[in-house]
Formats: sequence, C-alpha cells, structure tokens
Amino acid sequence: MKVCVVGSGGREHAFAATLSIGAEVVVTPGSAGIDGSTEKPATAVDADLYVIGPEVPLVNGLADELRASGRHVFGPGIDGALLEASKAWMKDLVQAAGVPTARYASFDENQAEEATEFLSTLCPPYVVKTDGLAAGKGVLVTDNLEEAEDDARNKLSGVSFGDAGRRIVIEEGLTGAELSLFALCDGQKAVLIPTSAQDHKRLHDHDHGPNTGGMGCYSPMPSLGLPDLEELMDIAVHPTVQELKKRDIDYRGVLFAGFMMTKDGPKLLEYNVRFGDPEAQVILPRVEGNLSETLLEVAKGNLTSQPTVSADAMVTVVLAAEGYPTSPRTGDVIHGLDEAKAIEGVTVFCAGVDSNTQGELITNGGRVLNICGRAPTLDAARQIAYRAVDAISWPGMQHRTDIGASIETDINREGIK
Ligand code: AMP
Ligand code: GLY
Repeated sequence: MKVCVVGSGGREHAFAATLSIGAEVVVTPGSAGIDGSTEKPATAVDADLYVIGPEVPLVNGLADELRASGRHVFGPGIDGALLEASKAWMKDLVQAAGVPTARYASFDENQAEEATEFLSTLCPPYVVKTDGLAAGKGVLVTDNLEEAEDDARNKLSGVSFGDAGRRIVIEEGLTGAELSLFALCDGQKAVLIPTSAQDHKRLHDHDHGPNTGGMGCYSPMPSLGLPDLEELMDIAVHPTVQELKKRDIDYRGVLFAGFMMTKDGPKLLEYNVRFGDPEAQVILPRVEGNLSETLLEVAKGNLTSQPTVSADAMVTVVLAAEGYPTSPRTGDVIHGLDEAKAIEGVTVFCAGVDSNTQGELITNGGRVLNICGRAPTLDAARQIAYRAVDAISWPGMQHRTDIGASIETDINREGIK
C-alpha cells in the first residue's frame, strides 16, 4: 500500500514513521528531517490512502478535493471540519446532541453590546473565544470582567484576530482537570483509541510562562482508566457522531475531544478534527498492528478492527527555538542528533527543521524537535527521553525539564463511573 501524509511537523513525522512499518509513505510537503518528503502537492501524488495531519488543509477542503477524484482519505471534509473551524457551530451541534458543555452564547460583529451584556450575567472566570481558527491563541480565560469585555470588543471588531474573531463565543468558566481522548470515526460510528495523553502547554517548568502549541506530552495518564474514557465516549463522542449523521455529515477521520472534569461532571470543552501535536507522537508509535490498514478502513467508511495500544509508556520533550512562542529564531545548526538517536528506546521526530547548503540539519520553526523515550514505565520513559535531550544542542534551545514528572493526579470522577 502507498500512503500520502499531508503536513510537515512532528505529528506528520510520527504518522510517517508508524505507517511506514506496513506501507510505502510519501509526505507532502514534509521537511529535510522526514524521509519520503516530496514537493508535489497531495493531489499530484498517486496513493491508496491520504492522511491529512493539520487542521488548516482540512478546513480548506483538501479531503473533499481528493475524495472528488475517487481517493480514500483519512480526515473530514469541510462540513465535519466545522467542529474545529467554528466554535459556535460546534457548541450548537453538541448542545443539540445533549452533550454536557459550558453554558454559552455566540455573537457577531454587530452585537458587541449584547456580548458585554451577556458577560455581565456570568460569574468569573469569563471565557471569550474566537469562532474561527486562531492557531490555539483565540481563547481568553480571565477573572477580570473589564478585560473580558475589551477582549470581546477587540475580537468582534477584527482588531485582534481579523475575520476569525468577527464572531465570538462567550462561555461560563469551568474549573477542574483537563483531559482529552482520541477516537477513530468512519462516518457511522466512533471507536476509542484505548489510551490517554497529557500535553504540557506552558513554556516553562511547573506550568509557568506563556501558552504554546505544547512543550511535551506523556502517555498513558496513570490516573485514568479505559472505563473512564469509554464513559466519556458515551457522554460525548457517540452522541456527537449520531448528530453529525443526522445532519448528513459523513465524518471520516479522528475526533480529538477535550474535556474539563468539573465537580458537576465532565463537560466537553472542544473538538479538534485532527490528532494533537505532540499527543500523536506518544500515541501513534504505540498503536499495534498495521496502522495503514486501520486508517484505510476508516477512510473507506468501514472500520472493522478495534485499535489496540501497547502498554508501554512514552514521553516526548519538545525542543524549541530561541524566541518561541512569539518570534522563534531559525537557521541554527542542530548538534548531537545521531548520539541522541543511538540511545535505546529513543525516537526523534522533526517538527521544524531544514537543511543548510552543507547538508546539516538546522532549526526552521518554533517547535524544532520532539525527543521521545519509550519504556515499560513512565519514569523510565522520561529518563530515556531526557538522556537524549542532554545530547542535543543549538544556541538558545529551550525545553521543559518536567515533562511527565509534574503529572495530573487529581481527576474529578464525579459524573463518571
Ligand atoms: P478550547 O480551544 O476551546 O479548548 O480552549 C482552549 C483552552 O482554554 C482549554 O484547553 C481550557 O484550558 C480553556 N478553556 C476553554 N473553555 C473553557 C471554559 N469554558 N472554562 C474554563 N477554561 C476554558
Ligand atoms: N497539543 C494540542 C493540540 O494539538 O491542539
């Protein structure tokens, strides 16, 4: 089988590495660090299966375009991708499906006054979200009403996020531990990928510093059992898929569901229509069997196999460029990669790299490398990953030292069995 992976980051490198165990893999556009990379667009690649990694090509209709020419695609069309592309649409859909979620209202650019009025009916924390994609930066959570009002006005006027913010969703603030799950959906049903992962979003240790795309991740979460995840499938994901079907949306791909475990039970925070990055890097390599066959079944609308996941633990540490997340510096030569890769249990995925004229690997993005350790226990996996991190260097390299160490233990099980 030949598989075409669309994207260029660490998630797509993890897809390519895992799929290449059972298939020939081409990655577009890929990068200097990913084998099989090609400059040809996906539409010009002849493959048996197309796996679309990031949300932007999904939201822009690449899956529809490929399907229109008879190709098998893992990833939803524009209609299903609305779950991530429009928070107002997603909230309306999950509310119609009876999924527990934060109380909300949505407003367009002519409704700034109504938006501030609605804010005044809520208790802190206040949550103001852009309706459209904002690269993970469109959500404000604050205890300060004035700040929330200003944020709502700036989003609606287009000042802060352009068109993505001209519609907003305002929500009641929830508190509790956050967790996410991943399910494969073949248009008819959703099947849980039976493991959990936790991302560390802040730049610095102990969750200090600015928010990022994710500075590292571990899997599985020791405090979370599979029955908990199946319960969340029943509460949220299965009803969502039924509601999608009711609206004639044939959703084929992954559903990445984020929850807040509140004292009143789990509440759905968001859906993403693609795998998490760096969650994929600690999940995909542990999926057992032939991943390309499983994803092809999803793409054909007939998932018959039940995915299973190795009991091993994995930890990935993101190595980021100087200046990330605001203005990452590019072009620094990366040292020590071969030493790192030679350590048993280590896998390195390239997230933002290029090569220079001497053929050396250089930094070419904010998140540059994902250094993964795999072992029977989380502790051992973390130690392996950090041994490899110590081997790698470039000027200004940033990383957290506590990935998989400051782990979530306090999950509120109220409302789940
Ligand atoms: P979202 O993209 O909708 O998941 O929001 C991004 C982040 O904002 C989440 O991971 C939460 O940390 C936070 N957040 C979103 N919605 C709420 C809410 N209703 N209450 C509290 N925090 C929230
Ligand atoms: N790591 C979070 C995300 O991919 O959205």
